[in-house]
Amino acid sequence: RKPKLSFNPSWLCVCARLFPPPGVLNYSTLLLSEERDVLYVGARETIFELSLNNVSVKNNQCFFVLQTDCQNHIRVLQAFDENKLYVCGTHAFQPLCDYLSLKDFQLIQKQEDGRGKCSFDPAQSFTTVMVDGELYSGTAYNFLGSEPIISRYSVSQSLLRTEYSTSWLNEPSFVFADVIREGKSSVNGEDDKIYYFFTEVSVEYEFFGKLLIPRIARVCKGDVGGQRTLQKKWTSFLKAKLVCSMPELNFVFNVVHDVFILKTPDWRESVIYGVFSSQWGNMGLSAVCAYNMSSVDEVFSRGKYMQKATVEQSHTKWVRYNGLTPSPRPGACISNQNRLQNINSSLLLPDKTLQFVKDHPLLADPVLPIGNGPRLIARDTNYTQITVERVPALDNNVYDVIFTGTDKGFLHKSVVYEGGLHVIEEVQLLKNPEPIKTLLLSTQRARFLYAGSDSGIVQSPMAFCDKYTTCEDCILSRDPYCAWETRTTSCIDIFQRKDQHRLVAPSLLISRTLVAWSAHLLLVPEPRYLLPGDRASFLECPLPVQSHHVACDNCLSVEKTHFRGD
Ligand SMILES: *[C@@H]1O[C@H](CO)[C@@H](O)[C@H](O)[C@H]1NC(C)=O
Ligand SMILES: *[C@@H]1O[C@H](CO)[C@@H](O)[C@H](O)[C@H]1NC(C)=O
Ligand SMILES: *[C@@H]1O[C@H](CO)[C@@H](O)[C@H](O)[C@H]1NC(C)=O
Ligand SMILES: *[C@@H]1O[C@H](CO)[C@@H](O)[C@H](O)[C@H]1NC(C)=O
Ligand SMILES: *[C@@H]1O[C@H](CO)[C@@H](O)[C@H](O)[C@H]1NC(C)=O
Repeated sequence: RKPKLSFNPSWLCVCARLFPPPGVLNYSTLLLSEERDVLYVGARETIFELSLNNVSVKNNQCFFVLQTDCQNHIRVLQAFDENKLYVCGTHAFQPLCDYLSLKDFQLIQKQEDGRGKCSFDPAQSFTTVMVDGELYSGTAYNFLGSEPIISRYSVSQSLLRTEYSTSWLNEPSFVFADVIREGKSSVNGEDDKIYYFFTEVSVEYEFFGKLLIPRIARVCKGDVGGQRTLQKKWTSFLKAKLVCSMPELNFVFNVVHDVFILKTPDWRESVIYGVFSSQWGNMGLSAVCAYNMSSVDEVFSRGKYMQKATVEQSHTKWVRYNGLTPSPRPGACISNQNRLQNINSSLLLPDKTLQFVKDHPLLADPVLPIGNGPRLIARDTNYTQITVERVPALDNNVYDVIFTGTDKGFLHKSVVYEGGLHVIEEVQLLKNPEPIKTLLLSTQRARFLYAGSDSGIVQSPMAFCDKYTTCEDCILSRDPYCAWETRTTSCIDIFQRKDQHRLVAPSLLISRTLVAWSAHLLLVPEPRYLLPGDRASFLECPLPVQSHHVACDNCLSVEKTHFRGD
């Protein structure tokens, strides 16, 4: 039976466990700890520790308050070690950091300068990631926000940062940073890498006004700066253009709003997902583009550089550099090959290499999306956040399930099938139309989705399987989380079943007599798979049983609608 693609159920479900202590606003920083079963939340002047299973349950609360009229917005919340979090706040435009002891949930009052680690202003763009006790940030280094910086702070090493130059960073809006652990499985002694994502003002295009460009940049974890050239600056900072466009329509999505890296055991198979819009928002379109990590690495490891050339007096233009590049390759991490040449640290890199990368931080080759275009285009929607889970489904395939949050408090859930992205459902997460500012999944134990906004934290199930009251609706939902169970005649979330482990072996399922839909497969009580069309049409769903069961216990309202744009 062919899925009826014209029907896309969409749930308007004002959902689950709001968390609104009076007077506390701007819940913009979340940190998940699956080991401790808690969600840490940084809001204005306050840090909370909430239960993952019920965010209404507040385990702990810590105040990080100022004695002045100005406000302290918590923007950095990172696990420093097993017993401490590293916390930074805007602190009346004088960013300040401290350690939060998890034993008594108190700040230890070490009070470190937060400049470069945290933004001055809560409205300034900002990203951070903690890697092995070192804090990597992308933010502004001054109050005015006019000096952008990508930096690393650690207890043991001195600060490393970007050169202050428009060819390195030109009015960037930082959205995301994460580490790719390349070192572990590397045969050539490659380093781990930290990737940054931001939108900045282009230097390479001639344009009337400011043309924005989405970028991916990276630095090497082992970088310690140069000896003379690039002293205490990155020797490995390179950046490239991130393309998300529809070439056939000549339409370009040139602003990146959020990124998620779906990591895999082999780093080369990791996939980068981003949400984009156009600088010219009048079209009202949002897009999801995906990138292969291996294609990204190809650009950074072998791509050509851009070069600044003076065309006329005082007029410069960026062109592809076709000359010889010095060796070792400018911007590359230290590898075994370098070590053989007795270069075992960036301090020993030759000045020629360092001077070249200082002048040529921009690569000419762009990073192209998988399939050469967006995976999904949404109309009349502004996506603000994205997070992805790769799930093993009952057909033994894995599917990437993409959760995107909008500026009006909605959540879209989509699945990547061969033919592209299929939107499964739309859920109204926030009661009021306000932007989802942060989105997290707990995929290990609790299996919930958490969204932060200015007004609160919302917890939601990741699937609403029992909303499908008939077998047909359950199967045609194409939701890899859902399966129809004949024994109970209900649509169940296969990951929520307490009596089986995450991955359900087909044999186990068969013994449980499940009729399950996954992608294009039906799993039947008989121990064999049937494909639609593969003489499977005789396989009728059992007669629908009217169900009064509502999945989301905390739903304030449930309404079945059609997905907009269908
Ligand atoms: C904090 O929340 C309030 C209330 O929604 C909002 O007006 C304000 O813009 C928020 N501040 C920041 C920095 O997001
Ligand atoms: C969550 O916690 C709140 C406050 O303790 C409680 O009222 C509510 O019943 C809990 N919800 C669930 C589903 O446990
Ligand atoms: C590089 O080699 C020198 C000399 O062999 C050694 O002292 C130093 O510790 C090495 N540095 C690194 C980062 O491996
Ligand atoms: C990305 O990887 C997938 C699977 O390995 C491959 O099919 C696809 O062609 C790659 N796309 C690009 C743009 O390299
Ligand atoms: C999307 O954002 C733009 C710019 O902020 C705004 O003008 C537009 O109304 C938004 N559209 C929707 C559907 O939210």
